[in-house]
Amino acid sequence: MPLDIVLLYGSYRRDRLGIRLAQFLLSRFEARGDRPMLIDAKAVGLPMLDRMYKEHAKGEAPENMERAAETIRTADAFVFIAGEYNNGVQPGLKNLTDHFLEEWFWRPAAIACYSRGIFGGVRAMMNWRVTLAEMGMPTISSIFPVGQIGQALDPEGMPTGDAGARLERNFVKFAEDLAWWAEAAKAQRALKAPPY
Ligand SMILES: Cc1cc2nc3c(=O)[nH]c(=O)nc-3n(C[C@H](O)[C@H](O)[C@H](O)COP(=O)(O)O)c2cc1C
Repeated sequence: MPLDIVLLYGSYRRDRLGIRLAQFLLSRFEARGDRPMLIDAKAVGLPMLDRMYKEHAKGEAPENMERAAETIRTADAFVFIAGEYNNGVQPGLKNLTDHFLEEWFWRPAAIACYSRGIFGGVRAMMNWRVTLAEMGMPTISSIFPVGQIGQALDPEGMPTGDAGARLERNFVKFAEDLAWWAEAAKAQRALKAPPY
């Protein structure tokens, strides 16, 4: 059964590199037979948080927020593509995420972290685990760290060299882990309505 997997990416930098990872993940989830969709915070263009989605009267949220809410609400699982700024999360992705709350509940999330350096954004990943737990998303155990992203993926998101080959191998376990939890959550939601 194909899964609706929503990928979220939040760099606003004009020379951003994480978009390569978004492209790679989109193509690999598609190749698995899933239905991945990217929410690119910069393209969606929400302002710095003023009113959360739920603070708008029904039907009165701005169209871009309404569309993002619908995409999030109908997802089976999420993948946060998390770059690292000063050992922490990227503000663009955090800002997008904070606009929503209940829309995230009862589905698992995975974290694909990256950086230009060798550590692959794992410190941002640790921060995201805390935030995602607060937002009703259990995070899966597998992570997808990409160090030296500019060398591992080319501008079209194609893996290059040894680092790229490692990504291809690591993706299999990462995707299988996420799919297992997404299917489990989907089956449970069908069996029993979430308690709140
Ligand atoms: C404000 C800022 C802070 C950064 N801090 C870190 C850091 O703490 N650790 C790290 O490995 N890389 C850091 N970097 C380098 C980023 O990993 C690199 O620029 C990466 O490409 C950012 O993602 P993006 O290109 O999608 O915006 C930082 C970059 C910026 C712009």
